[in-house]
Amino acid sequence: MKHIAIFASGTGSNATKIVEYFADNENIKVSLIVSNKAEAGVLDMAKANGIPTHIISRTEFYKTEDILKIFKAYPIDFVVLAGFLWLVPSYLVESFPNRIVNIHPALLPAYGGKGMYGMNVHRAVHAAKERESGMTIHFVNVKYDEGDIIFQAKTKLLATDTPEDIQKKVLKLEHKHYAELVDEIVTKLL
Ligand code: GAR
Repeated sequence: MKHIAIFASGTGSNATKIVEYFADNENIKVSLIVSNKAEAGVLDMAKANGIPTHIISRTEFYKTEDILKIFKAYPIDFVVLAGFLWLVPSYLVESFPNRIVNIHPALLPAYGGKGMYGMNVHRAVHAAKERESGMTIHFVNVKYDEGDIIFQAKTKLLATDTPEDIQKKVLKLEHKHYAELVDEIVTKLL
């Protein structure tokens, strides 16, 4: 059995899809949900599904390595970032080489980097009058959005699409692919 921790700060629609996807899996289990926001919607979803949660502060994340001790209790084998916006500290990247993945709502390396998250990305894509956007799943290193790319999917954009329309199109792709990709990668670790 391999145990996944999902890190999410927001609504958690991707986290929800991943939890649903693995609900009946006998080999891979979402065992922990970590959030930096006590009021994040993703925590309600975790409770509804009986998944343990941990709220992490900046001090705990960056000034201690306590999360590694928490992971040991499950024990966590793989980390999935799903709308988690903090840079992952080097001690965590080094403890989980090629075992932390992130999803980004654009076709990296375009529209990545610090400050490029959520609607900021879709507004920038809209302002540049792009005719396509998409999503990227990549391994996490110590720099924002620069780890090796594992998978990308594209969607066509119309001149009339608003940033909100772009967000909907990209989120649809994220929901379609993220859980399957995580399954593929974690299955190789079994
Ligand atoms: C997703 O679109 C994800 O790609 C993005 O945050 C959203 C979270 O939505 N992540 C980033 O922008 C990371 N730089 P969700 O909470 O509904 O899954």
